[in-house]
Amino acid sequence: MKKFFSVEDVINVYDLIQEALLLKKNPYDFQCFGKNKTIGLVFFNPSLRTRISCQKAAFNLGCNTWILDVHKDSWSIEMNDGSVMNFTQEHIKEAISVMSMYCDILAVRTFPNLLDRNYDYKEIIFNKILEYSKVPVVNMESATLHPLQSLADVITIAEYTYFFKKKCKVVLSWAPHVKSLPHSVANSFAQWISKIEQIDFTIVCPERYNLYKKFSDGAYTTHDQNEAFINADFIYAKNWSSYLDYGKILCKNSDWMITENKMKLTNKAKFMHCLPVRRNIVVEDSVLDSQNSIIFQQAKNRIYASQIIFLKMLQSL
Ligand code: CP
Repeated sequence: MKKFFSVEDVINVYDLIQEALLLKKNPYDFQCFGKNKTIGLVFFNPSLRTRISCQKAAFNLGCNTWILDVHKDSWSIEMNDGSVMNFTQEHIKEAISVMSMYCDILAVRTFPNLLDRNYDYKEIIFNKILEYSKVPVVNMESATLHPLQSLADVITIAEYTYFFKKKCKVVLSWAPHVKSLPHSVANSFAQWISKIEQIDFTIVCPERYNLYKKFSDGAYTTHDQNEAFINADFIYAKNWSSYLDYGKILCKNSDWMITENKMKLTNKAKFMHCLPVRRNIVVEDSVLDSQNSIIFQQAKNRIYASQIIFLKMLQSL
């Protein structure tokens, strides 16, 4: 594997999940591939889970890591070509070219600006990184996608369904938030779920919050949360800002919060969220802390999602 930007870089999603589950059982089995190898982790935006789970995954494979928090640790980086750099110190072209000489795999997080849909959805920054890097690149969340999160999510669903033994209903529910958030988790989740034929997938969101069609194709989208929750086996809560009115918060209605009463409509559904989560805004404490909440299983599977991707890249170096 030379790049991991989205599910489209994966040959067979079922095989990948199976391999990740095997790694979970025997996490230290492939250290021969990581010996004397280095993974560089570059963060243009903050992280808790992605940062630490990628480090742990690299450690399990016997790799070294270095981490750069761009805005804290480095020169200010110019993203635009042709700029007169009066206010920025280093261009992304040199920064990525140099960083990629100090590692065997480069993993990068770079969020959208949520102002210019065309710029974000063309993945201008991630594509520059791909162009300038001399080594394979992993997407640790880009302007529009968060594939390591989604891989962890489908691994988690596989565990709870005995590897998709029978049809199940998965609902991605929009939930309120105080800030304008990216679409990446929701887009990516929809894209990965569409590859699993045993999943009956519903997206529920307020009017004008429909996801970009390319990612949500094949899903049933509705604006009625109660209808969507009926007979659901998994409720995945996530906020995102509007795609149509790009980056805007159009709905602040707390009625969209995931509550114990709404969960009663489901088929004793498991509750999922990628974290971090704002308690009692996105979801009630009683749902998040319930027996059916599988947020920590999801977070743990972030390790094996990263590990299987790093392993595939190390194997093809
Ligand atoms: N879910 C997720 O990516 O968490 P972090 O932003 O903390 O990495």
